[in-house]
Amino acid sequence: MYLLKGKRILLCVSGGIAAYKSAELVRRLQDCGAEVRVAMTEAATKSISPLTLQALSRHPVASSLLDPGEDASIGHIALAEEADAVLIAPATADLLARLAAGMAGDMVTAVALVTRAPLIVAPSMNGNMLSHPAVRANIHKLAGWGYRIVESDSGELACGYEGAGRLPDAEVLIAEVAAALSKQDFAGVRFAISAGPTREALDPVRYISNRSSGRMGYEVAAAALRRGGRVTLVSGPTALLPPRDAELVRVESAAEMSEAMLVAASNAEVVVMVAAVADYSPRQACTEKIKKNDESLSLELLRTEDILTQITRLGGDRIVVGFAAETGDLLANAAEKLERKGLDLIVANDVGAEGSGFEVATNSALLIDASGGCEESGLLGKDELSDRILDRIAALRAGRGKVQHEE
Ligand code: CTP
Repeated sequence: MYLLKGKRILLCVSGGIAAYKSAELVRRLQDCGAEVRVAMTEAATKSISPLTLQALSRHPVASSLLDPGEDASIGHIALAEEADAVLIAPATADLLARLAAGMAGDMVTAVALVTRAPLIVAPSMNGNMLSHPAVRANIHKLAGWGYRIVESDSGELACGYEGAGRLPDAEVLIAEVAAALSKQDFAGVRFAISAGPTREALDPVRYISNRSSGRMGYEVAAAALRRGGRVTLVSGPTALLPPRDAELVRVESAAEMSEAMLVAASNAEVVVMVAAVADYSPRQACTEKIKKNDESLSLELLRTEDILTQITRLGGDRIVVGFAAETGDLLANAAEKLERKGLDLIVANDVGAEGSGFEVATNSALLIDASGGCEESGLLGKDELSDRILDRIAALRAGRGKVQHEE
């Protein structure tokens, strides 16, 4: 996640069983290029050794307000003021109560009161504790103060129970930190985004598909969510974990994608067709497995409907964005598609170029809009390119008088 690069993240750990996951979290935050400092409650130091977190973060761990030596060398005020974001994970019921009461008797609560950086709080505890009105009230209070609350996962808990209360994986927590650091210029804006390949069945065991991994579309969806958007993600088959807050509609064929996207698009203010939709589909899928009886086999394929064209025909003033996967003459081919499909913006990429296109984490694109504007992104991570695309969409919306007020 490129947004965390060079950012100072203060990880505050309280004494839940999930405290052991903080070691992994430190590493994953560092993988994003973040500078991580750790503060712990007294109870957390009994769950995971401060030495471990000190070694991983390569900085002393702050855990005691009352130790003159420790607090003098780190300074809880400085720690809180230096942070670009404060992530409290896991947050126990006890810590939530102390935060909600505005207490400041330990390193973590003191930091929470001092900092002006965004606070991201990930409650984690036994499911019955989590649903208790006292805990709900405390969470509600913190949310009211603008703390970003990360909903816990459901599943098997360390205490032996099944249910809500699990600390989400590091990727989810990192996405929440990134969202807290992002502008909210699409707050409440509804997106319909397609992603991945389609599969056109030949028979019950075979299909025609393409090399799309779905990654670009999933990153566009994640970026829209980070910036406050509400996303319906219509996805062909992929191996990816969908962004947590997207409404996911799984489809297989181009026909299914068309149906799902037309429904999603009619409710959306922004449509982004990232999916690599099959242009042709077998006239009819065989109901039985095709046997290799002959030396050669001919397939009759029929053109699929162009989804983007159907969406632009819906009318209205939604922004419609297409992608163009090309292996040559990028600008001319993409500009022609923009015009032919009636798009507001097209993201053209040379899928033959190194580090660009299918099955890689990076991409390089030309962003061409209907008024003739053209921007070359250079080689970027797909997460960063997604934000560039959203910047262009925000500019197009602003041109139509639709400016979102940042929160
Ligand atoms: N697309 C679509 N419906 C289709 C095929 C493609 O909406 N049946 C969309 C894609 O999601 C993409 C854009 O059209 O946003 C361009 O896709 P691309 O495959 O580059 O172009 P095609 O229109 O399929 O043209 P060609 O394959 O001839 O380049």
